[in-house]
Amino acid sequence: MKQYQLHKHEDKYIPQLVDAGTVELRPDEIRIAMDAWSLNYRDLLISAFNPTVSREGLIPLSDGSGLIEAVGSNVGHLSIGQRVCPIFFHDWRTGAFEEQDVQSALGGARPGVLAEEVVIHKDSVVVIPKQISALDAATLPCAALTAWQALFVRGHLDQHSTLLIQGTGGVALFALQFAKAVNAKVILISSSDDKLKQAQQLGADVLINYRTTPEWDKEVKKVTEGVGVSHILELGGPATFPRSLNCLAAGGNILQIGVLTGFGAETNLMRLQSINGTISGISVGSREQFEDMIVFIQQHKIRPIINTIFPFSQAAEAFNYLASAQHTGKVCLTKGSCKVVI
Ligand SMILES: NC(=O)c1ccc[n+]([C@@H]2O[C@H](COP(=O)([O-])OP(=O)(O)OC[C@H]3O[C@@H](n4cnc5c(N)ncnc54)[C@H](OP(=O)(O)O)[C@@H]3O)[C@@H](O)[C@H]2O)c1
Repeated sequence: MKQYQLHKHEDKYIPQLVDAGTVELRPDEIRIAMDAWSLNYRDLLISAFNPTVSREGLIPLSDGSGLIEAVGSNVGHLSIGQRVCPIFFHDWRTGAFEEQDVQSALGGARPGVLAEEVVIHKDSVVVIPKQISALDAATLPCAALTAWQALFVRGHLDQHSTLLIQGTGGVALFALQFAKAVNAKVILISSSDDKLKQAQQLGADVLINYRTTPEWDKEVKKVTEGVGVSHILELGGPATFPRSLNCLAAGGNILQIGVLTGFGAETNLMRLQSINGTISGISVGSREQFEDMIVFIQQHKIRPIINTIFPFSQAAEAFNYLASAQHTGKVCLTKGSCKVVI
């Protein structure tokens, strides 16, 4: 079987295809024959050179789906032929997040899924219903679940909410689709008028180009008649956080997720305090939350927005394409041949 491993090349790690032996199953493990994968901005962060952490030899990616091809002797509830997704945090299955769970992230602290076969604990996968394709399923473990936890588990978003979304990437477009499914109002900012048009087709109510309207926080206040928004999907980091706080409504909730403009965003605690605001730190989600999200996705017939599909053999090209930020929604890999979907 073949798998990708990261190898350092100049100032970053790039995925290289290598031959690897088939791993023997322990009693509690299953073997998945992978069909499809998706990339996240986080995979670019992990493949960037960092003098304090070596990624040499790491199997990249957290997100993929496949069919169970073998089960260990102690696996009762799963069977050969079922479609599954490994979960992002191998050890965050149910209940509250525990600090050590962060050390179980696939494609980071633990080996990832960009391989023809993945061997994993039986309790660290979610069963995917037959109606959801392998490709669609492969987009769900990180981006979709992050939007889900942010909006519904922590944000309690509903039809009375107004949500600000930053950009048109994977997390952003899942959040847009989820928010419109519960009839929340959505204001979306993007660098591109073409991308804004696509967001409008997906139901975004107010569109702002943050290149041509750099003081977008003022525009958000204007279009909300001075009130601001009840929820913000904060993806940008230092360049966006202060503006987010400016246009947060009284009692509102900043769902802190992203680092697109870097790390170390600073907040104005007095402003937060004076408007009775909340900042909720979001780290993907649990298996239990993933299972709830699948029920919602099926109920609302939500299909992930897949921008581009690369063949398994072109992982490096897929990484470069994601880094170019031309996409909207998700960039994927499959066992099949390459085709552009948009
Ligand atoms: N905390 C967590 O658990 C968690 C989970 C998943 C992702 N994340 C983080 O969330 C962020 C998004 O991840 P992703 O995988 O969805 O990324 P992605 O698909 O690569 O999306 C990137 C998009 O972000 C937008 N963007 C870039 N700079 C921006 C800015 N200054 N203001 C507004 N939008 C901007 C751009 O959209 P336009 O071209 O439309 O402007 C860009 O195409 C990343 O920082 C990632 O690390 C965190």
